Amino acid sequence: MDFYVLTLFPDQIEYGLNTSIIKRASEKGIINIKAVDIRDYSSDKHHHVDDYPYGGGAGMVMKPEPIYDCYKDISKDLLEGTRVVYVTPQGRTFDQSMAKEMALEKDLVILCGHYEGVDERILDMIVTDRISIGDYVLTGGELPAMVLIDAISRMVPGVLTNEESGADESFSEGLLEYPQYTRPEVFMGMKVPEVLLSGHHKNISKWRLEKSLERTKEIRPDLYDAYMSRNNK
Ligand code: ADE
Repeated sequence: MDFYVLTLFPDQIEYGLNTSIIKRASEKGIINIKAVDIRDYSSDKHHHVDDYPYGGGAGMVMKPEPIYDCYKDISKDLLEGTRVVYVTPQGRTFDQSMAKEMALEKDLVILCGHYEGVDERILDMIVTDRISIGDYVLTGGELPAMVLIDAISRMVPGVLTNEESGADESFSEGLLEYPQYTRPEVFMGMKVPEVLLSGHHKNISKWRLEKSLERTKEIRPDLYDAYMSRNNK
């Protein structure tokens, strides 16, 4: 899967995604992340990419032309119908089911805004999905783009090893993950729960489900209620 990130800060994307599992997947060629600098497509001699908002108000707005030229240039390599995501707090909230669904795409374009936003006309013209990563405002779209790429990539076949993907089962059931422990058996006087040392797999599964339910009910009653009604409980 190829990701094209249209951004004013390509270094942030490149450095930010060049570690661990995402780096390994890029090196294997399972995914490709191309950070494209919108400023390279600015035609004026000062390389301006933003301008004052019509109607007044604080801040600057990203101009449509450099984004259009940038998109047109990368479009040469894209299939017709490739989705173009604009990351914005005014979008649908990203979740695991969207990550799974987007992992089925061959390519994905992500447009990162900055300043006070992006001229609406270019958004209307090229964007297919407006996505938020949560109800808070960041200084730009680069971190949200990285969040999307990370969450989508780990759903692309071959990115996670079998062992790594097994760890996902719990959340995909719609519950929060149960607590995990490793050695030592006693840390500063705190013991690992006895059942985990028992080797009794049925009891361990039962305990983990109980802990997941307990935790989900307390921290995310919305997920708990949805789980209960899905499972007719
Ligand atoms: N840009 C700024 N804040 C954002 C958010 N919460 N989600 C997506 N894009 C953003």
